[in-house]
Amino acid sequence: MVSILMVCLGNICRSPLAHGILESKLPSDKFYVDSAGTANYHVGDSPDHRSIAVAKANGINISHQRGRQFKVSDFDTFDHIFVMDQSNFENVIKLARNTHDSSKVKLILEVDPHIKDKNVPDPYYGTIKDFEHVYSLLDNSCNIISKNLINN
Ligand code: 4NP
Repeated sequence: MVSILMVCLGNICRSPLAHGILESKLPSDKFYVDSAGTANYHVGDSPDHRSIAVAKANGINISHQRGRQFKVSDFDTFDHIFVMDQSNFENVIKLARNTHDSSKVKLILEVDPHIKDKNVPDPYYGTIKDFEHVYSLLDNSCNIISKNLINN
C-alpha cells in the first residue's frame, strides 16, 4: 500500500478536496489517501459546504470526511505528504524529526513545472469561484501525481 496525505491549515477547504480528487484517480486496493490540517480549529468538522458542493459538481463525494490535525506519527504512516502552501510547508517541516521525515513533504503545485505560483490560495474567506479555482489547480496536480504513482 502506498499512502498519501494532503495537508492544509484547517482541513476543511483545500486538503479535503485534494484528498477526494486524488482518491478518485487511484485504485483503492493499492493506495491510501487521507488529509489533515496543521491547526486544530476544525477537528471533527465536515468539509466546508463550498468544498462539498464543488466536489459534488465534479462527481466526487467528500461529505463523509472529518477534520483532523496533522501529527508527528503521520511521518511514519505516510509515504508522501503534499502541502497546499508555503505556510503549511513550514508548519509541517517544523515537526520533522529527521531528513527522512522532511524528504516526504512537498508543495502540491510543485508537481507541475508550468505553474508559477506554488501556493494553492486559501479560499476560506472567498467565494464559490475561489473554490472552483482551487478545484482546478488540485485536479491538474492530482492528474500528474496519480500518473507518477501508478507508473512507479
Ligand atoms: P483550509 O482553509 O486550510 O483550506 O481548510 C481554512 C479553513 C479554516 C480556516 C482557515 C483556512 N480558519 O481560520 O478557520
